[in-house]
Amino acid sequence: MDLPSFISALPKAELHVHLEGCLTPGLARTLAARNNLPLPPSLSALDQTGSSYSFHDLTTFLQVYYPNLSVLQTAHDFADLAISYLTTAHAQNVKHCELFFDPQAHTARGVPFPTVVRGYQAGINTAQRALGISASLIMCFLRDHSAEFAMATLMDSLPFKDVIIGVGLDSDERDNPPSKFAAVFQRAAKEGFLITMHCDIDQPDTLTHIGQAINEIQVDRIDHGTNIIDSPELISTLKQRGIGLTACPISNGIVTDDFKGKEIIELLRQGVRVTVNSDDPAYFRGYLNENMLKLASAADLNVTRKELIHLQRNAFTISWISSWKRNHFLQMLDEFERLTLGSEATQVLNGV
Ligand code: HPA
Ligand code: ZN
Repeated sequence: MDLPSFISALPKAELHVHLEGCLTPGLARTLAARNNLPLPPSLSALDQTGSSYSFHDLTTFLQVYYPNLSVLQTAHDFADLAISYLTTAHAQNVKHCELFFDPQAHTARGVPFPTVVRGYQAGINTAQRALGISASLIMCFLRDHSAEFAMATLMDSLPFKDVIIGVGLDSDERDNPPSKFAAVFQRAAKEGFLITMHCDIDQPDTLTHIGQAINEIQVDRIDHGTNIIDSPELISTLKQRGIGLTACPISNGIVTDDFKGKEIIELLRQGVRVTVNSDDPAYFRGYLNENMLKLASAADLNVTRKELIHLQRNAFTISWISSWKRNHFLQMLDEFERLTLGSEATQVLNGV
């Protein structure tokens, strides 16, 4: 089996994907037309030049990302966005997804909180029924807004605790450390939400932020966070507590100067529960298979097929699902390994 076929056939879990980052130009045009709205500026520029979105780091990416969301108005729109992503994920043999969403990016422009959550959940239900894919929602707070706004959003979410499994923190990390939201996350934990948060790549004070996430906020997971490679002490705590990292190679390569494959594989080989994910696939032009392939085909990394399976074992292990479901998916991976690798389990990918 060639490498792309191996990756396609591998049963996978996606733990770091922003639903708003799945808004393809095509879907945005459809929704703009349906809602009688003008195309957002980045999309009309795209239409005129035929080129791709223009950004070079997290801040400039977010400056394109948020204005595009104006086309999302009704529960039907949010449902269609979730169905669109889950259809692609299913076609890539993704078995389970934990989907970030940014309610404040919608409530701040007048869309009611229940419209967002009910729409996304309806889309998930439809995709689950039609495709059998498993999915759940993680609500992210926008860290470049106030802690008060985050707390009010947490309060809005309480009637929806049955459909939101956890909370996260995203958007612009500069000058917005995890500790700014300590009270919000403390309350979220008390309400029974699981906790993750972005520690974006190569940010100022990144190790301080990672340390706060682990020790002060007591996160269950970290999104990105691979700069931890520079702190053996934090790595040791991470491993002790079994905290996983959701890495996103293609995204890294676009918002920084490197896709950080070396760091991801080094952490994997040190026994950290690192995973591979797609982040904002409509913008970064890569879903889960493309992200796995990016890592697997880097000649200097010598990633083995066994390690690719291990990355997915990590994903199911750190996913927020019942132990029954986890065992089911892990058995699926065992079977996949037996069928594909047999005794060749340690073969090196490159040149195979
Ligand atoms: N980092 C921070 N905020 C985000 C991202 C990201 O990768 N994607 C969407 N919002
Ligand atoms: Zn992200």
